Amino acid sequence: MCGIIGYTGKKQVKPIIIDALTTLEYRGYDSAGMAVCNAKEKRTDVYKCAGRVRDLSKKCEFKDINSTCGIGHTRWATHGGVCDANAHPHTSGSVTVVHNGIIENYKDLVEEFDLSGSLRSETDTEVAAAILNHYYQKTKDPKKAVKSAVKRLKGTFALVILFADIPDVIYSIRNVSPIVATLSDEGAMLASDLTALCQFTDRYFVVPEYTIVELRKDAVSMWSLEDNEIIPEYLTMNWEKNSAEKNGYPFYMEKEIMEQPKAIRDTVFGRTKGGIPNFKADGVPDELFTQCERICVVACGTAMHAGLVFQALVKNRLHMHIDVELASEFMYSDPVIDDKTLVIAVSQSGETIDTLEALKYARRKGAKSLAIINVRGSSIARESDYVMYTNAGPEIAVASTKAYTTQLTLFYLIVCKMAYLRGVMNDDEVRDCIRSLKRVPEVINNLLDERNAIHVIARGIINAKDLFMIGRGLDYSILMEGSLKLKEVSYIHSEAYASGELKHGPIALITENTPVVALVTQERIMSKELSNIREVKSRGAAIALFIKADLIQQSTREFDTFVLPNLPDELMVFPASVALQLLAYYVSSDKGFDVDKPRNLAKVVTVE
Ligand code: AGP
Repeated sequence: MCGIIGYTGKKQVKPIIIDALTTLEYRGYDSAGMAVCNAKEKRTDVYKCAGRVRDLSKKCEFKDINSTCGIGHTRWATHGGVCDANAHPHTSGSVTVVHNGIIENYKDLVEEFDLSGSLRSETDTEVAAAILNHYYQKTKDPKKAVKSAVKRLKGTFALVILFADIPDVIYSIRNVSPIVATLSDEGAMLASDLTALCQFTDRYFVVPEYTIVELRKDAVSMWSLEDNEIIPEYLTMNWEKNSAEKNGYPFYMEKEIMEQPKAIRDTVFGRTKGGIPNFKADGVPDELFTQCERICVVACGTAMHAGLVFQALVKNRLHMHIDVELASEFMYSDPVIDDKTLVIAVSQSGETIDTLEALKYARRKGAKSLAIINVRGSSIARESDYVMYTNAGPEIAVASTKAYTTQLTLFYLIVCKMAYLRGVMNDDEVRDCIRSLKRVPEVINNLLDERNAIHVIARGIINAKDLFMIGRGLDYSILMEGSLKLKEVSYIHSEAYASGELKHGPIALITENTPVVALVTQERIMSKELSNIREVKSRGAAIALFIKADLIQQSTREFDTFVLPNLPDELMVFPASVALQLLAYYVSSDKGFDVDKPRNLAKVVTVE
């Protein structure tokens, strides 16, 4: 969703803003804009348009922009359509603002402050700018103005503000929507998201909620609403410097699929001792796993699908009660949560508002919490009692790939740890599992070497309008994610079905040549899966079978087949998921789509 950048320092600001907005494009947006300080004339100049960052860049190509301070924004429309007027920044009097989030009471504020005749856009953001300007004209004090204005705003916001008569200084305040900031020799910077900062620095801090931050060329200051000074708590990024670049790949999605062996290895690294999972470095105590009576996973989309795989493992290995809940539904489904519940919030970005709110709700009910997160210092990470980070590095493509397999990696470690602590598995059994887990990167590498064969299968489904993915047990959980991947990047309508359910309805949709992707990796249910596959084949379906090498038999040779390299059944989720990611990727890229930025989707979903 919307992206924010702000810079004040020694360098010309225009290229910094354009570069950072280009980096932030992955979040999903429909308009772009920037505002720069004209220090000499005590003016703020605004450039903005509906469209891409390159359109914005063109728009200001021949403008004589000589400024070292400015703010930029990519907008994902929520209030008001996609047009130049609704793009950010918005100006009211001396105040110019960019904003992420939603001001819920903006209509009430329009009435109360009698703004209806003066607004030039349909956005809630312009209302926030007007309220800020109202208090600024009264006080001529930026801090007082920000303080008074935010007390009137309801909703989520990250506001970044320029005052025309205070050149080269940027102010910001936030509630829920994130802002990270840094100070270096080159100047001070803030952004909605670390990927925009990681080219410049590996040190950053998260601006605390309801804290006024002031960026000057050579200083960053923060104050609480009670005017107490707050010292930034700097964190170090563990992302490599060029890790947010494409490095020769046509799309981030392909790059990120290829990075999975390393990401998984990095996620396991430092989390075992003597072959047994060890979470000392994460600061996660054993009691978290021994004192809970049930587990509840809250997450959205792909992260929720990782939770479904965890659920299957927990039931199978630990025989424990576990629920996996869509975070967006969680609060409204009267979940059974108490102080014996371990709630695990899973999120790549750590900023998904539904997951954040679900976590807060569970904590209010007394649950202990653990977050599985990729972005350090993100909101969900800070809200949770404990955090375990996936070491996937920055994930830029909207379609999540390496975040998913690293979430699975942590889940697998957690299951082994719990089984060990609860006496369900002995040392040798756990060590055996961990040895197998450590083989996963190499097995994925082998699969990646064979990816052309998946490209051939992708060509066979490229013109499909509807497609089914069928499997049972763990295979079904894996296919839910495979199907989401295909939907979001190829725009093919795809449904994952538990294959035993087909004859209770959906098989009516199978006609001559309906493409069906079938997954067979679990020996104990294999014969039933194969019967289900034959049922659809005999109704004319075109089958693409993804099957574990060891499970191939004479009778499976009748299908178009991709052979998945062997691992123990419960780890087959790794090669199977990577194969399905590649399938979706090839269909999308062969169709000529913008693989990394599928229509209507945003990487970070910060609205409920
Ligand atoms: C993944 O391909 C999706 N784009 C989406 O489902 C995503 O997983 C979901 O929005 C949750 O995001 P998070 O992991 O950042 O919380």
